[in-house]
Amino acid sequence: MTMIIHSGIKGFDEICGGGLARGSCILLHGGPGSGKTTFSTQFLYNGVVENKEPGIYVTLCENPDEIRKNMLVYGWDLKKLEDKKKLVIIDARPVGFTEDGYIVPNNTLFKGEGVPFSQITRLIVDTVKKVGAKRLVIDSITVLTTQYESQSYVRQGLLGLIQVLSSLDCTSLLITESQIESDNAQLERALVQGVVVLYYTRKGSSMARAIQVLKLRGNKHSSDIYLMEISNTGIVVHPEERIEIS
Ligand SMILES: Nc1ncnc2c1ncn2[C@@H]1O[C@H](COP(=O)(O)OP(=O)(O)OP(=O)(O)O)[C@@H](O)[C@H]1O
Ligand SMILES: [Mg+2]
Repeated sequence: MTMIIHSGIKGFDEICGGGLARGSCILLHGGPGSGKTTFSTQFLYNGVVENKEPGIYVTLCENPDEIRKNMLVYGWDLKKLEDKKKLVIIDARPVGFTEDGYIVPNNTLFKGEGVPFSQITRLIVDTVKKVGAKRLVIDSITVLTTQYESQSYVRQGLLGLIQVLSSLDCTSLLITESQIESDNAQLERALVQGVVVLYYTRKGSSMARAIQVLKLRGNKHSSDIYLMEISNTGIVVHPEERIEIS
C-alpha cells in the first residue's frame, strides 16, 4: 500500500487529495519568480522539522549561499539543519570560475559520460544513502536536459534518474523551467508520477500567484487552479479559493 506523506506546504495536501505518495517523483513546473525554490525548500525544511525526514537540495542554478540567505526571510535556518546532518545542499552547478576570473566547466560532474546524467545521478544516490534522505529536490532539471541536443539521450537520462530515485524510497521534487508546450516539457511530464504547476501571472494592475495539480498517479486530486500566496512564513495554498488566471 502506498504511504502518504505531508508536503509541509500549508493547504497543498488538500488539493492533492491528502498528500504525496512516499517515494514518488513530482515535477514542479513554474516560470521565473513563481516560487519554485521557496516551495521546494519549505518541503525539505518541514520534512526535517515536522516529519523527521532528512533532505537533500541539489542546486544547478543558484549559489548555495544565496539560497541559505534568501530562505532566512521565511525563518528557515538551513545552516542549522546542515550542521545537524539533516539537510545537505549539493552544489552541482555545471560551471564555475577560477581565481583569475575564467569561467570553467565542472568536469567532474558533466564531461564525457557514456550514460546521460550518470555522474550527477551517482552523486545523488551516494548522498541519499549517506544521510538516509527521505526527501530530495533538484533545482532544476532544465539545466540537465538543455545540455544535450538529442531528445533520446535526454529521455534516457531522465528515465534513468527517475528510476533510480523511485528505487530509493525518497520523495522527490524535480524543478523544471521548460516552456509549458515544449517537447522537453511533454517528455518530463510523461515520465514522472506527478506534475504541479506554479503560476505567476498578471491580474488587473498587479500579479497573482496560483497553483494547480495536473497529474498525481494514484491520487484522487483536484485539477482546479487555486490561489497561492508567499507570506513571511512561506507558501500558503488556499484550497477554498479557486481563481481564474489569464
Ligand atoms: N517574505 C516574503 N513575502 C512575500 N513574498 C516574498 C517574500 N520573500 C520573497 N517573496 C517573493 O518570492 C519570490 C521568489 O520566489 P522563488 O525564489 O521561490 O521563485 P523561483 O520560482 O525559484 O524563482 P527563480 O525563477 O528565480 O528561480 C520573490 O520574487 C518574491 O516576489
Ligand atoms: Mg529558484
